[in-house]
Amino acid sequence: MVTLSGVELESPLTKISELTSQIFDLGCARDDTPGCKHVIHFNNAGAALMPKRVVDAIIDHIRLESEIGGYEAAERAHDAVERVYQAAALLIGAEHDEIAMLENATRAWDMAFYAVPLKAGDRILTSMVEYGSNFIAFLQRTQRTGATVEAIPNDEHGQVSVEALGEMIDERVKLIAVTHVPTNGGLVNPAAEIGKIAREAGVLYLLDACQSIGQLPLNVKQIGCDMLSATGRKYLRGPRGTGFLYVRRQLIQRLEPPFLDVRAAQWVGSNRYEIRPDARRFENWETNYATKIGLGVAIDYALHWGLETIRKRVTSLAENLRAQLSTMPAVRLHDLGVERCGIVSFSVEGIEPEVIKQQLASQRINVSISIRSDTLLDMESRGLGKIVRSSVHYYNSEDEIERFCRAVDAIAKGAKSNVLGASERAPTS
Ligand SMILES: Cc1ncc(COP(=O)(O)O)c(C=O)c1O
Repeated sequence: MVTLSGVELESPLTKISELTSQIFDLGCARDDTPGCKHVIHFNNAGAALMPKRVVDAIIDHIRLESEIGGYEAAERAHDAVERVYQAAALLIGAEHDEIAMLENATRAWDMAFYAVPLKAGDRILTSMVEYGSNFIAFLQRTQRTGATVEAIPNDEHGQVSVEALGEMIDERVKLIAVTHVPTNGGLVNPAAEIGKIAREAGVLYLLDACQSIGQLPLNVKQIGCDMLSATGRKYLRGPRGTGFLYVRRQLIQRLEPPFLDVRAAQWVGSNRYEIRPDARRFENWETNYATKIGLGVAIDYALHWGLETIRKRVTSLAENLRAQLSTMPAVRLHDLGVERCGIVSFSVEGIEPEVIKQQLASQRINVSISIRSDTLLDMESRGLGKIVRSSVHYYNSEDEIERFCRAVDAIAKGAKSNVLGASERAPTS
């Protein structure tokens, strides 16, 4: 028997989930999310459903561009564009001049990573669950420079072993670059413990927060990272093609961006340029103003809910989902770690993940597939090929989780189910 706010609970997971949903205004969240009427969206780690106000802000700006001109619309929207820097800074406990807006998390991460000086003999330490694009960049740079990249072993729970990291540190380690939440599961790596070691050793620390931003409270000072990359379209519920980079103020001027243009620098003499002093040195000039504004609105919306509220709701829904899936004999759950988030990864014995995805899609339930090459070290070490990734957000309901589980159960048993009622069926056209 457990208690929550003094209430005794018989069946902990379901009851905690029900109680959290009573405290959380689910009706409001779903009303603000038009997509909830069309799909059961468990692909929030791919791209979440945008709230209506985000969509409106984007469309309004595009309309303004078409009516008065793109440059003129940007001038008129100056405050909304600046707001995105303030909102992103507020979200992660930074200052607005420490934020650069980029077109995705990968480019944000790249702009930081390729700016870190490396030479032969230097070491980069990373996580077992590092994302494919990051690792490809490690390989390119280590092949170019003669530096090396090493994965920090996991502890017995499957998260980065902080102890092993401590033992790996020496004067040759120039960068710790780890993924907070991997693309392929609910693991949350101990970002702040890693930060403590990085600080003590005086080693640069780059955190890939692409999958954690918007579902977990993040504070760069508490984490102790020097650089952090994030995307807009996932748990932040912003538009696709948006992302941002944080770089600690004291570090900005020590990092020369791999690319420069007229946004990042000023051409001040026929053979001279000056790089701007703030984090916008990592940006480039031409940008999508509409989606930038949309990202600002999405971040403000997340802040309005509160990141701790979001975390509680998302993790409780995910635990509920894991609990229900774990009762199915053919289902194998794959989430690692002590702390787990809204991503629930699983496979069903004897059924290809694509078949599961397709059969769920035919019932308008969205999931995605994690493939081996996206997190090669992790998948190889666990002998995994492809797995199903279901990822919940706060606007998902307990009822959707039950329907989802009924559908998975039916697929596992080789039967077709249709969990949507007649009124909810997709239009035929
Ligand atoms: C851990 C991680 N890092 C980085 C990325 C890349 O993000 P983006 O597609 O915004 O560049 C992803 C995408 O899924 C990811 O899961």
